[in-house]
Amino acid sequence: MGFRKDFIWGAATASYQIEGAAYEDGKGLSIWDRFSHEPGKVFDGHTGDVACDHYHRYPDDVKLMKEIGLQAYRFSLSWPRLMPEGKGAVNQKGLDFYNRLIDELLKNDIRPFVTLFHWDFPAALQSLGAWENPDSVKWFEDYTALCARTFGDRVKDFITFNEPQCFIGLGYDVGVHAPGYQLPNSSLVPMSHHILKAHGTAVRALRSLVPEVRVGYAPCGDPCMPATNSPEDMEAARKAYFTVPEKGWTFNVAWWSDPALLGCYPESGLKHLEKYLPHGWQEDLKTIHQPLDFYGQNIYNGRYYKAADNEQGFEMLPLPVGFPKTAIQWPITPDALYWGPTFLYERYKTPFIMTENGLSAHDVVSLDGKVHDPNRQDFLNRYLLAYKRAAEDGADIRGYFHWSLMDNYEWAHGYKERFGLIHVDYETQQRTLKDSAYWYRSVIESNGEVL
Ligand code: BGC
Repeated sequence: MGFRKDFIWGAATASYQIEGAAYEDGKGLSIWDRFSHEPGKVFDGHTGDVACDHYHRYPDDVKLMKEIGLQAYRFSLSWPRLMPEGKGAVNQKGLDFYNRLIDELLKNDIRPFVTLFHWDFPAALQSLGAWENPDSVKWFEDYTALCARTFGDRVKDFITFNEPQCFIGLGYDVGVHAPGYQLPNSSLVPMSHHILKAHGTAVRALRSLVPEVRVGYAPCGDPCMPATNSPEDMEAARKAYFTVPEKGWTFNVAWWSDPALLGCYPESGLKHLEKYLPHGWQEDLKTIHQPLDFYGQNIYNGRYYKAADNEQGFEMLPLPVGFPKTAIQWPITPDALYWGPTFLYERYKTPFIMTENGLSAHDVVSLDGKVHDPNRQDFLNRYLLAYKRAAEDGADIRGYFHWSLMDNYEWAHGYKERFGLIHVDYETQQRTLKDSAYWYRSVIESNGEVL
C-alpha cells in the first residue's frame, strides 16, 4: 500500500526565517524586524537582518533543493516586502524577487507551495491595531489579490495562514514572539475571528483570480494520542484534542479549524469565549467556511491521554523520566503523525498534507567536512512510518513537507536551533547537505518504500 502514487514530497521555509535583505529594495518593516532588535527578546540578540541571505542566494538554494530531489517547496511571501505599508503602494522589486524565485523553481520542476502569511506582519499595520482592527480582513484580501494576480499564472498551490495558534498565542497572548504583547481575551478573541474571516475572504479571492487553484490552510495544535487502544482512551484523546480549554485556548486546534472547515465554532470554546466575539459573528461564518482543497497541519509532537473519572473525562499522562527529546527539548513522539492526521481527517474529511514536521538537532560540520545527523534520520524514519500507517488505515494523506529546507532563524531562539536538511554556516553562508538530506532523497525516490 504505502503512500499514494501522486504523493508530494517537499520541504518548507518562511520569509523572515531565511530571506535576510531586511532593508533592501524598498521592503517595508515587519513586526519581526522591530521585535528582533528589542534588547532581550531573542536569544543573544539575533535578528533576521541577514538570516540565510536567501534573497541573494536563491538560485543556489534551488540547486540544492534539486539535489535533494524535492518535488515541492513551501515558502512564504513577506507581506511588507510586497506592500511596504501593508496596504496601498506595491513594491515592484519585491514582486520581482518572488517572480524570479518561482521561475527558478519551475525551471527545476519544483512545485511552489506559497504561504501568504507566516508571521512577518507589516509594522505599519501593527500601528493600526493589527488583527484587532476589523479592516484587517480587507488588508489581507487586497494583499492576497495582489499575490494571486501576480503569481497565480504559475503558482497553483496557496496556503492562507501558517499557525494562527502561534502568531496569536505567542505574539499577543504569551508575548514571547513579535510584537511581544499580552492582551486580554477581549482583544484576542476578536483577533482570532478577524483572522478566520480573512482566511475565508482570501480563499474566495484566490478562487476567483487563479484558474485551477488549490487552496489550503496550515494551523497546528499538538495531537492528543490515546495511551492505549481501548475505546475509552481513544475517545478521551479525541475529546482532549478538540476541546477548547479556558486557559491556553489560543493554542487549540478546533477553535481555529472548526469555523473554517465545519462552519461553526466548537461549543467548548463558545462556552468561555462567545462573549468576546464581535457583533454579527454568526453571519461571518458563511464567509469563513470555504471549501478547501487540502487541510495542512504542522505537527512536531503530541501527548498521551487516558480516560479519567473527572469532569472532562480525560487526563494527560506525564512523560516518563528520560523520555527522548530533540535539541530544542521537544519530546520525540512519532505516533503524533499517526493520531494527528487520523483524528483530523476523521473530523474534517478534507485531504491532508503535513505542511511541517522535523526537529532541531546539535548538527556540526565534522572533520570530514560532512554533517552526520543520525538523529534526524531516525526521527524522520519513525515519524514517516507512523504517517504511512495513518495513510494505510484510511486517512486521505497527500503530502509531506519537512521543516526545514535549511537551518534558519528559529524566532525567539535565534540561530541556536538547527532544523534544516541543509546546514548553514552563518559566518560564511556556506551550505552543506546533511546526511539526512541524502537519506530524504532516497525516501522521495522510493515514495517512502525505504522507510
Ligand atoms: C513554525 C516555524 C518554526 C517551526 C519550528 C512552526 O511553529 O511554523 O516557523 O520554525 O515550527 O519551531
